[in-house]
Amino acid sequence: MRKLLLFQLVMMLTVATLHAQSEELLLLDGWRFHKGGIANAEKADFDDSKWQQVTIPHDWAISGPFDKEIDKQVVAIVQNGEQEATEKTGRSGSLPWIGEGWYRTTLDIPDGYTHSELVFDGAMSEPTVYIDGKLAGYWAYGYNTFAIDITPFLPKKDGEIAQGRYALAVHLQNVEESSRWYPGAGLYRPVRLLLSQNTAVKTFGIFARTTALEGIADDGLTAREARITVSTSLRIDGKKNIKVKHSLLGNGGTVTSEPISANDSHETTQILRVQNPMLWSPEQPYLYTLVTAVWENDKLIDIKGTKIGIRTVEYGGEGFKLNGKTTKFRGVCLHHDLGPLGAAFNKAAFRRQLTLLKDIGCNAIRTAHNMPAPWQMDICDEMGVLVMAESCDMWVYPKCKNGYAKFFEAIDTQSPNSDGRPWWQRDFENLVLVHRNHPSIVMWSIGNEIPDQGNATGLRYTREIQDLIHSLDNTRPCTQGLDRGISAIWSGVFQATDVPGFNYRLHLYSRGHHDSPSGLLLGTETASTVSSRGVYKFPVAENHGDAYDDGQISSYDLESCIWSNLPDDDWIWQDKAPWLTGEFVWTGFDYLGEPTPYDEYWPSRSSYFGIFDLAGLPKDRAYLYKTHWAPESKTLHVLPHWTFPGREGQTTPVFCYTTYPEAELFVNGKSQGRRRHIDMTLDDYKNNLIDVPTPWGDMTKFANPDAPTGKNRLDRYRMRWMDVKYEPGEIKVVAYDNNGNRADETIIKTAGKPHHIVLQADRNVINATPIEEGRAIDSPDLSFVTVSIVDKDGNLCPDADNQLTFSVSGAAKFNSACNGDATSLEVFTNPTMKAFHGQLVVVIEGKATQGKATLNVKGNGLKAASIAIEVE
Ligand code: GAL
Repeated sequence: MRKLLLFQLVMMLTVATLHAQSEELLLLDGWRFHKGGIANAEKADFDDSKWQQVTIPHDWAISGPFDKEIDKQVVAIVQNGEQEATEKTGRSGSLPWIGEGWYRTTLDIPDGYTHSELVFDGAMSEPTVYIDGKLAGYWAYGYNTFAIDITPFLPKKDGEIAQGRYALAVHLQNVEESSRWYPGAGLYRPVRLLLSQNTAVKTFGIFARTTALEGIADDGLTAREARITVSTSLRIDGKKNIKVKHSLLGNGGTVTSEPISANDSHETTQILRVQNPMLWSPEQPYLYTLVTAVWENDKLIDIKGTKIGIRTVEYGGEGFKLNGKTTKFRGVCLHHDLGPLGAAFNKAAFRRQLTLLKDIGCNAIRTAHNMPAPWQMDICDEMGVLVMAESCDMWVYPKCKNGYAKFFEAIDTQSPNSDGRPWWQRDFENLVLVHRNHPSIVMWSIGNEIPDQGNATGLRYTREIQDLIHSLDNTRPCTQGLDRGISAIWSGVFQATDVPGFNYRLHLYSRGHHDSPSGLLLGTETASTVSSRGVYKFPVAENHGDAYDDGQISSYDLESCIWSNLPDDDWIWQDKAPWLTGEFVWTGFDYLGEPTPYDEYWPSRSSYFGIFDLAGLPKDRAYLYKTHWAPESKTLHVLPHWTFPGREGQTTPVFCYTTYPEAELFVNGKSQGRRRHIDMTLDDYKNNLIDVPTPWGDMTKFANPDAPTGKNRLDRYRMRWMDVKYEPGEIKVVAYDNNGNRADETIIKTAGKPHHIVLQADRNVINATPIEEGRAIDSPDLSFVTVSIVDKDGNLCPDADNQLTFSVSGAAKFNSACNGDATSLEVFTNPTMKAFHGQLVVVIEGKATQGKATLNVKGNGLKAASIAIEVE
């Protein structure tokens, strides 16, 4: 369909003799998978009929089982300040991702092509690619996109690739201690087959960027004129008269360039002037289609479509500007896994993440700490989310024994696709070439907490990597997340980074501002506040690093790591320091692995940092961020729940996160007084800091937790009633507007016994998986159904942990379930799971045929429930 549209568009634009066009086929289904090493699996005639049939994206490890022994590491996590090695269990997720795996499929090559490549959007890890038993290529880093020219490995007939069916085999291997988190395993992103002529646009050979924007309208949605510069790199076979012509389609019109000849380096650069362009921004993520046509005399020999957005990006004295408007990053760091789906990329799951994030006012993501998936960037373009596209977590000095540092300076001497350069050059080059047309990407991150940041090696690579990136894209700056503030300043790494970023280290922000050549500073990583959804611990107090004996953390949102802080600390800086370009919170969602502060506790296998839990359910913190990031929203959220049998008469503080200026709490009708948000200056805040020793042997500063009301930074965004005595019944918070008028209220009641199940889908209508020419051309669509256990009156039972079972009938199937409990060892892909604090999420997956689907959820002693989902 897409191909057809492109073809029709070009026919409208040109009158041409048409030659076999470039094609891109997604190879998503028709794969066979084998876990483990096996002899001769690369051979053309190998019998794989007994192997498991799979579709990709596929993560071979997500179905578990969880096992404490998997990747158990006896290490000191140096960046966390540890000096002695101790046993770490859930660090990389405790799922069976280590070992070898094989994938096989067939390539059907039609008549008429002279060139073919395979593009792997990412493969975990060290993919070795064979065509009909012949080694065709290899890539070391599991997170990068790469292309392999397979033309030399295919037989030829009459100067063309011989039409036929060829075996594609991919070997993968993952080794222990290669990751600080769950990496996933297998072909976890799409594979694409590219077919073209020898003379064509090179893969990743188009670079379109907005080089001027004039007369931007006050609303920022349009401009008088935009100049789009388009560079094209071509493969030209022999000495030919090759011309390139671009057409930009969108906003009801077409702008077309003159055809121009490729220069001696087989490149063209053209400028398209667009009158009254629609601009791309988070508010209006408008996309144009750039059609690039390659002509040999009057013969159209190649044609390519690229989605682009018209927008400018600037960084200067006034911070980050998008289309000339200063914009602060209200961002989150995201790991690549999608909770119960593991690392297997799925568009619907990622769209849901962005929908949830946008709802709390988030406008940006950081792809921590690796290259994004191309599909992921397409979605950020479509949905209007700004992106810091990151690369890696280490350069020369390893953070874990077998991590990326092993490859960084190494040169591949074995594989046909090696070009003799070290991996770091090839990896950074691909990051930029693959992704540079995405309007959503507004900066590149050259690394996260690189241990070399304090020395000359770090400085050399900061410069060399940035130079390489600037040579491929001169429109976006680079940043990196620096965690060793002073030593990164002493080494010059901080000053050499285009937009220096600090991970945490708030007490060094002023120093960073002073030493930053541009004066800019970015909170590349902030908060690392931790909590478990639905868990409340008493007494309520700030805590930086201590753990409990049940593997959970309190949701009063007062706990962080020893190296980090509470959201409120970041906000006083972000609100008051104009030179701060924003923040990227660690993290938007809980992720698999890194169960800090329970690295040494079993069972615990996923993180606690998320604003949303692993199932995507909001923790209380989601509402706290919403009050700050979406002040225009009418947010009124109260915590904790009010069902604490046995706490009668005990102090049970109540917090309210609200955008209203004032609120009053009532317990069983009795007023507990009003609270108002306060404000304070940055100096007031700084004057209330206390010195605290760090595990690194130096001192840090924390806000004084005992600062009285009116001087406590927590009172800027939270309303707190600290002395409330628990009594069953109800708590009610009434919110007042600026004029003191009653504006809103919310009530939480003590729940009775678990009685029935309530189901709510994020989408009641999903799409059947689209099939073209017998092949799936998209990831399956998903509906995420929140399951809640309630009492007879519909109140959430906040401690219900009933075992639930799921069945799906009709046009969809069960995909997975997740309850957000980091200590659960129940497998996500089994259709049964315990509720965690009264809730969990069931993921159901649309099949390829349309129709109705029904999810049924049952649990002992509970009235069952079902929900209908339409698959269109
Ligand atoms: C940072 C690191 C992240 C994560 C986080 C946890 O130092 O960059 O990857 O480990 O700490 O707080």
